[in-house]
Amino acid sequence: MVVNVVNVVNNAQTVADRYRDFSWRQARGRSEAHEELTARISQDPEFCDLLSGSLPAGNKQQPNLLLAAVRYLDGPHAEQGPRGESAYGRWREWTIRHWDEVRTVIMRRTTQTNEPGRCATLLPLLARLPQPLALLEVGASAGLCLHPDRYRYRYRNAVTAEAGTEVGAPESPATFECRTSREAGAAAPTVPAPGAADGLPEIVWRAGIDLNPLDPAAEPDDIRWLHALLWPGDPDRAARLSAAVEAVRTAPRPRMVRGDLVEELPALAAEAPPEATLVVFHTSVLTYLPLDRREEFARLVRSLLAERPGPGHWISNEHHSVLPWITTPAHDTLRPEDGQPLTLALDERPVALTGRHGEALHWLREPAAGE
Ligand SMILES: C[S@@+](CC[C@H](N)C(=O)[O-])C[C@H]1O[C@@H](n2cnc3c(N)ncnc32)[C@H](O)[C@@H]1O
Repeated sequence: MVVNVVNVVNNAQTVADRYRDFSWRQARGRSEAHEELTARISQDPEFCDLLSGSLPAGNKQQPNLLLAAVRYLDGPHAEQGPRGESAYGRWREWTIRHWDEVRTVIMRRTTQTNEPGRCATLLPLLARLPQPLALLEVGASAGLCLHPDRYRYRYRNAVTAEAGTEVGAPESPATFECRTSREAGAAAPTVPAPGAADGLPEIVWRAGIDLNPLDPAAEPDDIRWLHALLWPGDPDRAARLSAAVEAVRTAPRPRMVRGDLVEELPALAAEAPPEATLVVFHTSVLTYLPLDRREEFARLVRSLLAERPGPGHWISNEHHSVLPWITTPAHDTLRPEDGQPLTLALDERPVALTGRHGEALHWLREPAAGE
């Protein structure tokens, strides 16, 4: 899991180091375009001088932010990235010529994604909790994961590649594929869940908290920004994003609160209808908080759910290093392309390992009934 490095010293060399690090550690193996581009930037002292001289040190110097800003503004080679010296020259010349616009985007935006495909890993858990549900997502971004009942899902056996169950909203324009497997002896929660229509949970209330909530229906620029942040060479991810935006376009927008997830959680949770099962959940979010803040969040969720008059649960889907007290057993059936999996935990007990973008679900155990 990547934690952003914050420069203490702001000069061309620290920027160059940061781009080289990004190229080697993050882009290599994931995006040739980004790997090449950031490697060339790291060897371009004049361009690094521009970056260090006109952007404040810290998050605004993240390579991802510059790359996305140029793509957002339809800069050259937005999809493929430079290939060779002359292509880099064109990218560089365009970026310098449009620097005021690029800088404005960098200063106004933050790196944030929203991966609706993760709903494929949340759905079986949500569908088997006592219904109806009140969903509260912290770090909700554009809120696309707050609509698990508005997508379709195709679950396929990861080992035999056999097609399994297809569930979800029948007319949805978004269908998410998910490979499933399980540890020997672990039973997987039934999909569809017994009693849930179309395998879907019944959601009566949805709300989200984000430092910077995006609005997929009312702000087309927000969606363009989310697309710009996706790395070149991953058309499936872009297609999932577009399809999910289409699927929720006419749906009522969940209640979205701007602010810090620890600060805002108690008041927002108090708004959830008491007769519904409150589900506080998050996917790929707590990594952005320092460990002591994650512990504070954990204490808050525990006490909030314990004191709530109605039922409540906590679902976390984070890299195992993020909540280190939730220990994840070793596993052997995820595939190399699943990369570093996330740990899906229900009330701090791991139930599955999941692909980073919801493409895989490896069950470790079946949650007890009503858990
Ligand atoms: C990687 S995105 C994941 C978004 C979404 N959960 C998903 O899985 O698609 C992380 C989100 O967490 C938000 N975030 C980070 N720190 C936060 C904080 N302290 N309070 C609220 N939101 C935060 C970011 O703004 C961003 O939208």
